[in-house]
Amino acid sequence: MANDAIGIFDSGLGGLTTVKELNRILPMEDIIYFGDTGRVPYGTRSKDAIIKYAKQDIAFLKSFKVKMIIAACGTVSSVANFIGDSLPLPFIGIVKPCAIAAVKATKNGKIGVIGTAATIKSHAYLKEMNILKENLDIFEIACPLFVPLIESGIISPGDPVLLEVARRYLLELKEKNIDTLILGCTHYPIIMEAISSIMGENVNIINSGRETAIYAYEFLKNRGMLKKSDDHGKYLFYVSDTADGFESEASKFLNLNLEYKCKKIDIEQY
Ligand code: DGL
Repeated sequence: MANDAIGIFDSGLGGLTTVKELNRILPMEDIIYFGDTGRVPYGTRSKDAIIKYAKQDIAFLKSFKVKMIIAACGTVSSVANFIGDSLPLPFIGIVKPCAIAAVKATKNGKIGVIGTAATIKSHAYLKEMNILKENLDIFEIACPLFVPLIESGIISPGDPVLLEVARRYLLELKEKNIDTLILGCTHYPIIMEAISSIMGENVNIINSGRETAIYAYEFLKNRGMLKKSDDHGKYLFYVSDTADGFESEASKFLNLNLEYKCKKIDIEQY
């Protein structure tokens, strides 16, 4: 079982921020990634739709030999994390890893959370942090335009459209004097530089992709489930819409020096 792959899914490209960190800290692990590019974004959908999509994404990944499934999607982790409770294998979302990291990082107890509309509406990060620590001031802002911008390749830190949208969302948080900001959607680390340039260097940015990968590493290590191999793991990517765009975006973003393939599947069959 330890040599089985790690299954990861997101609505699109965002979960690659977790893959990027896994490649850095656990290069030997095999990864099977599903990006639901045909139905992105999830964050503007109803709870029922998000649950349905998440169940199909998990069913697809379970059709492979996987030892763990990571919902590298803040929206699924916030709205549909309970699905993991009935699975016969470990299931990890991004809310808990980010909440733990934010509570550890804050000095003044003022923490910002940004995410999709569905994520913010669920208050999942707020609830998780309140379990971990008392007397926190938590400020939550939905940033619904970030995912479509990122999926369209508008990610350069100096891009005027990106900066204008980011200012609209973030200036309100900046005024609250937060010292820690959770990027509560896995797409957001892709535009971390732009976000950081607005928030200023004194704000700790919690990178959801990174924290989730570290959490997965600890989880597997503590249970003796790490793959034992000196070779780099194999990566397989699947999407629910055309594979071409994803392949070029993924290779640009991941900067992986390895061969991998991206295939289109029909997610409605799962
Ligand atoms: N990466 C997803 C998340 O973390 C994006 C959700 C969406 O598709 O709106 O929430």
